[in-house]
Amino acid sequence: MYRTNTCGELTLANAGQTVTLAGWLQKSRDLGGLTFIDLRDRYGITQLTFNMDVNAALCEQARKLGREFVLQITGTVCERSNKNLKIPTGEIEINVTELKVLNAAATPPFTIEDETDGGDELRMKYRYLDIRRNPVKEKLILRHEMMKYTRSFMDAENFVEVETPVLIKSTPEGARDFLVPSRMNPGQFYALPQSPQTFKQLLMVAGMDRYFQMVKCFRDEDLRADRQPEFTQIDCEMSFIEQEDILNLFENLVRHLFKKVKGVDIPEMMRMQYADAMRYYGCDKPDLRFDMKFVELKSEANDIVSGAGFGVFDNAELVLAINAKNAAVYTRKQLDELTEWVKDPRRGMSGLIYARVENDGTVKSSVDKFYDQEKLQAWAKACNAEAGDLILILCGATNKTRKAMGDLRLEMGNRLQLRDPNKYICLWVLDFPLLEWNEEDKRWYAMHHPFTSPLPEHIEMLHTNPGAVNANAYDMVINGVEVGGGSIRIHDRTLQSKLFEVLGFTADEAKEKFGFLLNAFEYGAPPHGGIAFGFDRLCSLFGGSESIRDYIAFPKNNSGRDVMIDAPGPVNSKELDMLGIKLANI
Ligand code: AMO
Repeated sequence: MYRTNTCGELTLANAGQTVTLAGWLQKSRDLGGLTFIDLRDRYGITQLTFNMDVNAALCEQARKLGREFVLQITGTVCERSNKNLKIPTGEIEINVTELKVLNAAATPPFTIEDETDGGDELRMKYRYLDIRRNPVKEKLILRHEMMKYTRSFMDAENFVEVETPVLIKSTPEGARDFLVPSRMNPGQFYALPQSPQTFKQLLMVAGMDRYFQMVKCFRDEDLRADRQPEFTQIDCEMSFIEQEDILNLFENLVRHLFKKVKGVDIPEMMRMQYADAMRYYGCDKPDLRFDMKFVELKSEANDIVSGAGFGVFDNAELVLAINAKNAAVYTRKQLDELTEWVKDPRRGMSGLIYARVENDGTVKSSVDKFYDQEKLQAWAKACNAEAGDLILILCGATNKTRKAMGDLRLEMGNRLQLRDPNKYICLWVLDFPLLEWNEEDKRWYAMHHPFTSPLPEHIEMLHTNPGAVNANAYDMVINGVEVGGGSIRIHDRTLQSKLFEVLGFTADEAKEKFGFLLNAFEYGAPPHGGIAFGFDRLCSLFGGSESIRDYIAFPKNNSGRDVMIDAPGPVNSKELDMLGIKLANI
C-alpha cells in the first residue's frame, strides 16, 4: 500500500496514529535542528517534521531534497505547536520515521504556488506542472462536477447518452471543417464534426426519443477567449416536443447545475425577442446584470433631436442614448478618452455626444449651442436621467450605431463595475431570423444551421421575403455569454428541400451533401428539436473566469497550437505519399 491517507485529511482526531503518505515536496525549511517539509497531493498539504536529535541521518537526507521530489513517508501524527488554521491539516504534523524518495525532480520552470511567476506560454508548455497548482486543478475538478451533475440530470430526465462518430462528412455549422485524409480512399477526406447535428436528428428518426452526449466538436475558426478549435458540447435532442418544452427542460438543467455546483438559486429566466435584443442592447447576447437599455432619441418611430440645426443628428438614421447612472462626475479627460474609444476603428463612430444632469437638475451637454434647456430636459426625461447621471449619445447608420452602442454599454458596465461576477442573469433570446444575406456571395445563409424550422406562420414567406422569415430557434445567454443554442427542426422532406433551394443548393448538391438526411425523412421522421450548450463556456462562467482555456486540461493557444506536444507538426513524405497528398511549397 503506497499510502494510508491523503495529504488533505489528517487532523487532531488522528493524533498518535502511524500513517504513510505520498506526494510532492512543496516547500522545505531547514531550521538547523529541525527540518520541515510541506508534502502536497491533490487533496492538500501536510507538514512533515524531521528532528536532528531523534534521527540525524533521516534529517540529513530530508535537507537534500528539492522542490517537487516525489516522496513516501511514514510517521506519527502529532499536534503542532505552531498551528496554521488556514488549512484543514494545519493543527497537526507528521514526525517522520521513514522516508523514501519515489522520484527525483528537476527544478520546475515556475513556482508551483497559487500565485506563480510563470507566464502563460511557459505554463502551457508545462501544463502538467501547471495543473499541480490549486487554481488550475480546482477548475478541472469544477468541470468534472459540472459533467457529473449534467449526466445525472439528463439520466433522470430519461435521456440516453449515445456516442456519434468523429470521422464524418462535413456538417454545415458555419465554421471551417478540420479534414482528415483517408488512406483507404485516396484523395478523399473525412471531416471532424462541428457538432453531431445530423446524427442526433437521425437518432430521433431512429426512435431514441431523448438523446444527449457530452461531445467533442471541432471548428477551424479564429480563436478568442471563448473559442477553442476543439471544445465540448452538452448536445441534446428530443422528439414530440415544442419550443416551450425545450425551454422549460433546459432552464431546469441550468438551475440544477447552479444549485448543485454553486449552491445558487437563480432568478426566473427572462425571455427576449432577437429583434428587441438588437434594438435595445445592440447584440444578440445582452448582459442583463445591469440596465442601461438604449433610448432611441431618433429612429423610424420617434425623433426628439432633429431640426435644431445640428446636422450630425439631422442626417443620422438613428440617434441612441444610454444613461450611465451617477457618472456625471466623469471628468473632461474621461469623456475625451471615451470619445477616442468610440472612434477606434473597431467601433468606427465619428464622435460621442454627452449630456450631464447637474445636481440642480439642469442638463449641460456638449451640443448646448444647438439645444435649449427645454430640449435637453426632454432628452433627460426620455432617458430617465436624474441629477448625477450622464447621458451618452451615438448616432449614424442603424446597424453600425447599435453595434457600437452595444460595445459602449458593456464598456461603461465594466468601468462602473456593474458586471457583478457573483450575479447570474439568464436569458432566452427567441425568434432569430432564419436567414442572413451575405453581400459578398450574394446569397442567403442559415443563421443557425439549415435544419432549423421556420416559424410555421412564416413558411409562406420563404420564397417571397426570405429575410423576414423568423426561425423557431433560441439561444441561452448568461451574463452576456452565449452558452447554448438550438431550434425546432424541419422534419418534413419537402420543407427541408425547399430550404436547401433558398440557400442556393441545386437538387443534386442537396442530395450529394444531405441525401442521407432527406432519405431518412422519407421513413417517418417525428417532430423534433434540441439544443447544444457550450460546456467549456458554462464551466468558465461558473468558475468566474473569461477564458475557457482554464477549464480545458490541455488547451490550444490562440494560434491553434498545443505548445506542450508541439502540434500540429509536419509529417514525413512517406506518410503523405501513402495518403496520396502532395504539399505545395508553403
Ligand atoms: P452552436 O453552433 O450555436 O449550435 O453551438 C452551440 C454552443 O457551443 C458553444 N460553442 C463553442 N464553444 C467553444 N469554442 C467554440 N469554438 C464554440 N463554438 C460554439 C457555444 C454555442 O452556443 N448543432 C447546434 C446546436 C443545435 O441546434 O442543437 C450547434 O452546434 O456556447
